[in-house]
Amino acid sequence: MHVMFKVSAQTYETKVYQFTHSCIALTIGLILFLGSCTAIKTPPSPKAAPQEQTNDTESIRSQEKEAPPRSDVTVETPPIKETPPAIAPSSKAPETDESLAKGKSLYQEHCANCHGIGGDGKGPLAADLSTKPQNFTKGEYKFRSTMSGELPTDADLFRTITVGIPGTAMESYQEFPQSDRMALVAYLKSLSPRFLKSPQGTPIIFPVARPQAPESVTHGLQLYEEMQCSACHGAKGRGDGELAKDLTDTAGKPIQPADLTRQRLKSGDGPKAIYRTIMTGLDGTPMPSYGYSLDPEKGWDLALYIYSLATTKEPL
Ligand code: HEC
Ligand code: HEC
Repeated sequence: MHVMFKVSAQTYETKVYQFTHSCIALTIGLILFLGSCTAIKTPPSPKAAPQEQTNDTESIRSQEKEAPPRSDVTVETPPIKETPPAIAPSSKAPETDESLAKGKSLYQEHCANCHGIGGDGKGPLAADLSTKPQNFTKGEYKFRSTMSGELPTDADLFRTITVGIPGTAMESYQEFPQSDRMALVAYLKSLSPRFLKSPQGTPIIFPVARPQAPESVTHGLQLYEEMQCSACHGAKGRGDGELAKDLTDTAGKPIQPADLTRQRLKSGDGPKAIYRTIMTGLDGTPMPSYGYSLDPEKGWDLALYIYSLATTKEPL
């Protein structure tokens, strides 16, 4: 660095000298001469750079000033980050022979390593994974907008494929064209006879999204205690309740309650995704569904409380 600077400084001086010399030698007019030398002495770019920086800082400052005022609250309430819906809830995957064939070849190339060639969840990579890949032949899905026991909608499967499942080996396939992800949805359904026998469920209705007001969060905490979520998830939501060690999934494998203070939850970010999980449950796991017993507004407060655990990291 130092050496390079010296070399370029020397080159610069030499150039200035040569240029001055040639100015005299060619007896260029005095005004023109002065003008050129001034231009060399004060090159415009280094001056312009700090000028631009000042402008930038100023514009950032003015943006800050323009930002909406923070609401008058006592706890930190960062803006809600919600996973955007991947597709309209009523969207259907085309079940043409062409789409199924496309889905099959994509599945074999990208999914079978984990989920197994026939969808039994026993692909070659499965043995090394702590959270096992889903067995698609049972048609039992965790991540649904439909009530417990019902089949997921096509949009549910599409969402999981698009967003992935944070904290597990299941990645996001967002870069696949939408038609490819739809073909995968159609193919996944063909792996389980359940989709032929029963109709798919209808999505639950979400209450109007309310912001993370402190009284809603406090009410959510109260519900969390009353409804004994803590028996599994622990008093502070860290997944260490008294039942935590003895839980198994429907396949008889041990399963841990979610640590709800994690930054990214499995079924998506934001109160809407949390609300969906609370109301519909995670089929095949001990996570119950509360949709039949819990009032939607209470469910939203509970979701806001869970959301606050992940975002503020400081449970009430
Ligand atoms: C590296 C391994 C791996 C690959 C490759 C993989 N998955 Fe998964 N997938 C998983 C795991 C593990 C889970 C279970 C996560 C859980 O239950 O928390 C999962 C879960 C899912 C689910 C959610 C099931 C439910 O219960 O709601 C869907 C849908 C799914 N995968 C589809 C796919 C598709 C389609 C592909 C290929 C495009 C694919 N996966 C590729 C590991 C993988
Ligand atoms: C009997 C035990 C049990 C009870 C009671 C229970 N849960 Fe769960 N919950 C689980 C398990 C196990 C999982 C993780 C399932 C998985 O990872 O596949 C889970 C997952 C979740 C998730 C999903 C986290 C994610 O990563 O997406 C949320 C949210 C949640 N529970 C909230 C609640 C709330 C709120 C209550 C009380 C109203 C509650 N749970 C009651 C066992 C329980």
